[in-house]
Amino acid sequence: MQETGSAAAAATVHQQGCSFPGSAAVPGLAPPALTLRGVEKGYPLGGGRRLEVLRGIELEVASGEIVVIVGGSGCGKSTLLRIIAGLEPRERGTIAVGDRAVGGPGPDCGMVFQEHRLFSWLNVEQNVAFGVPDLSAAEQQRTVAEHIALVGLGGFERAYPHQLSGGMSQRVALARALAPRPRVLLLDEPFGALDALTKLRMQAELLRIWQAEQSTFLLVTHDVEEAIYLGSRIVVLSGRPGRVQRVLDVTLERPRERTSPEFSALRRSVLSELLAEERDAAFAPPASGAFES
Ligand SMILES: Nc1ncnc2c1ncn2[C@@H]1O[C@H](COP(=O)(O)OP(=O)(O)OP(=O)(O)O)[C@@H](O)[C@H]1O
Ligand SMILES: [Mg+2]
Repeated sequence: MQETGSAAAAATVHQQGCSFPGSAAVPGLAPPALTLRGVEKGYPLGGGRRLEVLRGIELEVASGEIVVIVGGSGCGKSTLLRIIAGLEPRERGTIAVGDRAVGGPGPDCGMVFQEHRLFSWLNVEQNVAFGVPDLSAAEQQRTVAEHIALVGLGGFERAYPHQLSGGMSQRVALARALAPRPRVLLLDEPFGALDALTKLRMQAELLRIWQAEQSTFLLVTHDVEEAIYLGSRIVVLSGRPGRVQRVLDVTLERPRERTSPEFSALRRSVLSELLAEERDAAFAPPASGAFES
């Protein structure tokens, strides 16, 4: 990728093929919040065939970072998050959340999905409490109240999901995921279903929450502007099989000005990278007859 002057000023680009393209680790310091080494995944398709989805994923996420993954539809972003969350097995490679080798779900790794996935029969308070089942009653009450306030929903404690807007529901989902204070929060297109204005507001809110909680986020999005607005680094995945194609450090000061020349230049760079990928591979058909049983 050829960087323009201002995009180069706003981002440092790591090309695939460096020793460790997703590396953020500093020797001598605490382990990264998240470490992925050689992660591979495919799905059996019957008849001995296999759909290769992820290949050789290497990534480290340092504590306090927001790392954003972008990539064409079907390149394996959601699969990667599910594998990191321990919701799905990988075929090869290792994953660690802090020092814990991931072999299944753990309270140190939370997840927020595109749709809020709240329990319709529980109110806001009860939905958030679901995230911290092991606390004493008093401790649970305190944590729930704290996180409802954190996402700006004070006064809605007794409301049920059908009484909330899409943005409010996503706030509850965020509160539920953050309540156990996970070491890493995975977010899979959390604002994908929201209207444009609510989405902008939620991005600013997410940034505020990240700063307040000193959290570590790994976020998937289709929205390049969202990636640049939020990301400490942007990881561009290539088309299927998903591989780490580029890692860009976003060095713009926060809060980022979406209309600044540096922001626009960076957006052009990421977009052209993605468009090239889309053209080349994201919609490449699987091997002939792959989905026949
Ligand atoms: N259970 C499954 N069995 C077989 N193939 C699957 C399964 N789950 C996902 N896939 C395939 O894995 C590939 C990656 O899917 P995934 O949902 O991770 O993509 P994605 O990058 O999140 O796409 P999008 O941006 O559209 O959400 C797709 O080609 C899909 O067909
Ligand atoms: Mg997805």
